Amino acid sequence: MKTKSLKIIIFLILINTITLFLYLSSHPDYLKHRSPPSPQQAHHHFSGFSQINSSTKPWPILPSYLPWSQNPNVKFGSCEAYFGNGFTRPFYLLNSSSGSDGWFRCFKSDTLLTSICEGGIIRMNPAKINMSHGGELLETVIGREENDELPVFQPGAFDILVHNKAKFGDKIITPYLLHRVFPQGEVIRHTMRSLLNSIRLVSPGDFQCSEWVEEPTLLVTRFEYANLFHTVTDWYAAYVASRVTGLPYRPQLVFVDGHCMAPLEETWKAMFSSLRYAKNFSGPVCFRHAILSPLGYETVLFKGLTEDVDCHGASAHDLWQQPDDRKTARISEFGEMIRASFGFPVDRHQTSKPDAGLNVLFVRRENYLAHPRHAGKVQSRLANEQELFDSLKIWASKDVDCKINLVNGIFAHMPMKDQVRAIHDASVIIGAHGAGLTHIVSASPKAVILEIVAAEFMRPHFTLIAKWKGLEYHPIFLSDSYAKPLIVKQKLSSILKTLGC
Ligand SMILES: *[C@@H]1O[C@H](CO)[C@@H](O)[C@H](O)[C@H]1NC(C)=O
Ligand SMILES: *[C@@H]1O[C@H](CO)[C@@H](O)[C@H](O)[C@H]1NC(C)=O
Ligand SMILES: *[C@@H]1O[C@H](CO)[C@@H](O)[C@H](O)[C@H]1NC(C)=O
Ligand SMILES: *[C@@H]1O[C@H](CO)[C@@H](O)[C@H](O)[C@H]1NC(C)=O
Repeated sequence: MKTKSLKIIIFLILINTITLFLYLSSHPDYLKHRSPPSPQQAHHHFSGFSQINSSTKPWPILPSYLPWSQNPNVKFGSCEAYFGNGFTRPFYLLNSSSGSDGWFRCFKSDTLLTSICEGGIIRMNPAKINMSHGGELLETVIGREENDELPVFQPGAFDILVHNKAKFGDKIITPYLLHRVFPQGEVIRHTMRSLLNSIRLVSPGDFQCSEWVEEPTLLVTRFEYANLFHTVTDWYAAYVASRVTGLPYRPQLVFVDGHCMAPLEETWKAMFSSLRYAKNFSGPVCFRHAILSPLGYETVLFKGLTEDVDCHGASAHDLWQQPDDRKTARISEFGEMIRASFGFPVDRHQTSKPDAGLNVLFVRRENYLAHPRHAGKVQSRLANEQELFDSLKIWASKDVDCKINLVNGIFAHMPMKDQVRAIHDASVIIGAHGAGLTHIVSASPKAVILEIVAAEFMRPHFTLIAKWKGLEYHPIFLSDSYAKPLIVKQKLSSILKTLGC
């Protein structure tokens, strides 16, 4: 057992090292553009890893990690194309002609119909982005319209430095190419599309920076930033973008939106190297390397709600030995990334505590103020949630043969780290259909999910996540929104039996 674990660890370290090496050797652009664009900025000279900013976090070692290097043979519609790196169609929008020139390119996924774009020597001028400031306390912005929180880009919001006079003032992309790189699709306000559409090429004289960011920086716009399901789609998009572009370290993060501060920010901060709101920069800021994160709507987690993504969770070890187009370990990898970001161990062979009992986590739905337009009331998807919880609590303490800890998952009132810990430690996760259940992405591989589905809320979100992650999943369908405690106990009891109880 020891040697096997050791082999796996060595294997993981090797993969990580190889990825780093591939990054360095396959990203000539990145290395080329380390020299500063003008002598004034000479003190920002970037001369290798020794100068990597100390706030930059390394990638954690993840047991379910598989390499993200581009493989042009990834099949259309395969699980890797949906969940991993299907971004194989390159669009070179700007090749630099010298080391001090900007560059820009996109990689499109024909499966997801979106692109991951990246570029160098890019300037963002927050004054040219119309939107609220962002990052305010929720109480101070009650009633603010969502439209005011989403960015509108004026010319000059994003510029790339070029020295070729013939290009001064050009846009980075033509309408025809824009349509190909980011097909309109169903997203009405595609903020990344309009960001890309706003980028212009400018002369050195028009490229003044009040600040330089040397480390790779991910630009993100969030939509439903207070809802866990939507935010997990944003995290996934950001994670995928960072891996597809082969970043050797976790990127810095800039929110190009004007949303107020939300509790989910904790996870953004934990996962990435640093976080700032665009308007938090006091003047034009220049990025040595910026990456545009696709919208959460364009991830498989969202598209899978309407497209048939027939993929089953599998272990990375098995997939490495025997690749399979219908299997994926990416959701597990991502869940481990969240856990590792909060400092939890992600060893596949976790030592269980046999005497401590089985944790049954009840994910509660609570009333709380989520965002400025929210009335603070959640829809009733389980009319008798409290009754059911109380009833399970008594049952678990008397009528079950083994030791059960029924955990009250009042997530809206728990720090994110405690939420992730509770999920991670749970053998059974039970809850009514609701965004809080999205947490199952970071559940342990052996966790069993029991979802209570009210008649009005028969939607596939968690059935799918469980399948994609390879978790055992059981639904209880209600004819209205009342769950008979007896039925839930019977179901739970049969699940507990399979867990040796
Ligand atoms: C490191 O990067 C962070 C975030 O970009 C920045 O706030 C900090 O000043 C940088 N530190 C150094 C020493 O460059
Ligand atoms: C830009 O660079 C890419 C990759 O190096 C190359 O394939 C492409 O042909 C170049 N495009 C132009 C217009 O030089
Ligand atoms: C952005 O704001 C400026 C100044 O407040 C205004 O003049 C301009 O029309 C706005 N642009 C857009 C596209 O909303
Ligand atoms: C910028 O962010 C820092 C901390 O991240 C915060 O203290 C400061 O108030 C913010 N400034 C503005 C102008 O929002």
